Amino acid sequence: VFSVQADKPGAAVSPTMWGIFFEDINLGADGGLYAELIKNRSFEFFKPLMGWQIRNSKATGTLNFGSNLLMINRPERAETNPRYLQVTLNKTPKDSLGLTNEGFRGMGIKKDLRYDFSVLYRLQSGNAKIHLELVSEKGEIIGSGVFAPKNTGDVWQKGETSFTASATDPKAKLNIWFEGTGVLDVDMLSLFPGDTWKGRKGGLRADMVQILADLKPGFIRFPGGCIVEGHDLSVRYQWKRTIGPIEERKLVVNRWNYEFAHRPTPDYFQTFGLGFLEYFQMAEDIGAEPLPILNCGMACQFNSAEVAPLEDLAPYVQDALDLIEFANGSTATKWGKMRADLGHPAPFKLKMLGVGNENWGPQYIERLKIFQAALKREHPEIQLVCSSGIAPTGELFDYLNGELRAMKADFIDEHYYSRPEWFLANAKRYDTYDRKSKSKVFAGEYAGQSDKTVSVLNKNNWRTALAEAAYMTGLERNADVVQMASYAPLFGHVDGWQWKPNLIWVDNLKTMPTPNYQVQKLYSNHKGSQVVPILYKDKLPATGQDSLYASAMLDQTSNELIIKIVNASAKQQLTQVNIDGVKKLDGPAKLITLQHDNLEAENTMEQPGVIAPIESVIQTKGRGIEMEIKGHSFSVIRVNL
Ligand code: AHR
Repeated sequence: VFSVQADKPGAAVSPTMWGIFFEDINLGADGGLYAELIKNRSFEFFKPLMGWQIRNSKATGTLNFGSNLLMINRPERAETNPRYLQVTLNKTPKDSLGLTNEGFRGMGIKKDLRYDFSVLYRLQSGNAKIHLELVSEKGEIIGSGVFAPKNTGDVWQKGETSFTASATDPKAKLNIWFEGTGVLDVDMLSLFPGDTWKGRKGGLRADMVQILADLKPGFIRFPGGCIVEGHDLSVRYQWKRTIGPIEERKLVVNRWNYEFAHRPTPDYFQTFGLGFLEYFQMAEDIGAEPLPILNCGMACQFNSAEVAPLEDLAPYVQDALDLIEFANGSTATKWGKMRADLGHPAPFKLKMLGVGNENWGPQYIERLKIFQAALKREHPEIQLVCSSGIAPTGELFDYLNGELRAMKADFIDEHYYSRPEWFLANAKRYDTYDRKSKSKVFAGEYAGQSDKTVSVLNKNNWRTALAEAAYMTGLERNADVVQMASYAPLFGHVDGWQWKPNLIWVDNLKTMPTPNYQVQKLYSNHKGSQVVPILYKDKLPATGQDSLYASAMLDQTSNELIIKIVNASAKQQLTQVNIDGVKKLDGPAKLITLQHDNLEAENTMEQPGVIAPIESVIQTKGRGIEMEIKGHSFSVIRVNL
C-alpha cells in the first residue's frame, strides 16, 4: 500500500530538472545533428583527401591531357582555412575528371527531397561546369545537378545550385565532375538536405532535433563532455572559433578520434558547423535553458592531462566572461553586437555556465577558484556548474565534493556510469544528502551499463532503463537538492560510434529511441511542479522494498497528481494507492506504462517500438486507486484532483 500525502506539498521541482547532455561523440554533430552530407568539405582533415576519391575518365580510366587536380596548402595566408583544390581544365569533357565524396558512413538521401549544393570558388578565365551526381549504394544515379561558375577574377565567390533526388538511399555517395577549360579553384564543397530543422539553410537534421524537442527538456548542456577538455589544450573546445562564417571556423581533430581501438574513427573531426550560435539557437527552439560548459585550463584527464599554468589562465577566464556577454549583452557591447551581427539581436537569457568537465584533483579547484572569483564579481546572476567527477570513485570524488561545497559551488556536476544494480541500490542516494550545504546537485551524466563502462558489449536494454527509472524516483523525491539531471551520451550512429550505451541511436535516415529514452521522456513530460511525500506501507519512501520504487508530484498548472512507480521484480503486484488530503475521487485517471517481461529486450532500428509507452485509463475509487502493477514495469499515473 502506498499513501500519497497530497496535502503536504514539499520542494518545488526545478523547471530545469530533466534535460539533455549533448556531445559530438559517436558522430553526434558532424555526421549527425549537423546535416552537412560532405565529409572533409574543405580538405582540412589530417590527410587532405580523407573522404574523397579522385575520379578519372569513366570510359578510358585515364586522365585527359592537361587536366589535373592540385591540392594547395597555404597556412601562412589562411590560418583558419588553409587548403583548397585547384582544378586545371583543358577542354576536359564531362565524366573524365572529378571527385567522389563518401559522406559520413554514406549519405542518407530521400526520394523527392531537394538537395542544396554550394561551393566557394574562383575562376580566373575560361569556361567551366561542375556536374553533380548522387549515386546509390548499388551504383545508380539518383539525382543530378549542374553548376556553372562565372568568371570571378581573383575573387572567391559562393556558388549554389539545387536538385531533387529520385530515390531513397541510406548510403549514397556524391560524384563531382569538372568540365571545360580554365583554372578553377574550389573549397567548402557542401551538400545539405532541403528538410533541415526549421528550413534553415546549412542547418541541423530535423528528425534529430525533433526527437530532442519531444523530450521537452528543461536544459541542454553543450558541447560535452571530454571534447570540452580536448586531447590536449591546443585542441580544446574554444567557442569563439565556432561562430561566424563557416569557412573561417578552424576545424580541430575530435577528441574521440583518438579513442578506442575497437572502433577506430581516424576521420573524426569537428568542423564546428554546429557552433555556439547554433547551440544557443537550438536551445531556444526546443525551449531548453542553454548550459554551456567551458574549458577550465585543463585537458582531458584520460588523454594528455595537460594543464595551463595559473599565470596563463586569464584568456580562459576572459572566454567565459565574453561568452556571457555574447549570450546576454546588449547590442552596444562588443560580443552582444557580434550576436546581433550573426542574426540574433535578442539575448539568449543565459542563466548557467559550467567550468570544467571531470577535471580532477587540487589543480581543478585552484583554477575553478579563479573562474569563480571573476565570474561572481562580474556576473553574480549566473549560476556556476562545477564538476566533481565520476561517482562513486572513493577518495578523489569525496575530496572534490567537499571542496566544492566549501566553495559554495552553485551546482556540483556528478557523473555515474554504473551497473543497473548500482542504480537500484542508490535510489536513496540523495535522501541523506547534506542539506546544510547550499550547493545543488546536477546529475550531469549517467547511464546504466549492462556490461562494463564503455564496453562494446553494453546494451540499451530494458534492464538498464528500468534501473534508471527506479533511480530517478530518488532524484525526483529529492528535488530540493537535485535540480538538474541528464543521461549521457545522447546520440550514437550505428555505423560510427565510440561509446555504448547511448540514449538515441541513429542511422543516416532515421532515429531510434531506446528504452532509456522512453524513461527520460516519461519523466520529463510528466515532471510536475512540487514534490509530495509517498510512503510505502505507511512508513518510508519505496526505495526497493518488495522491489518497488516510487515518487509523487503535484502539477499545479493542471491540478493533477503524478505518481511514478517502478516494479523491478518479475512478479505482478496488486497495489493500493491511497491519496490523503483530497476530496473524494471517483473518476478516470491516466496510466502510462513501459513494460517488458524480458529485461534483455531492446529496441532496434527495425523494431523501434519493442519498449514504448502504452496509455490506458484506470478508475479512482474513494480516495485511492487499486491497480495491478505488472512485473518489470515503470508506470506513470496522472490523477485529476
Ligand atoms: O559521455 C561520454 C563521456 O563520459 C563524456 O565525454 C565524459 O564527460 C565522460 O567521461
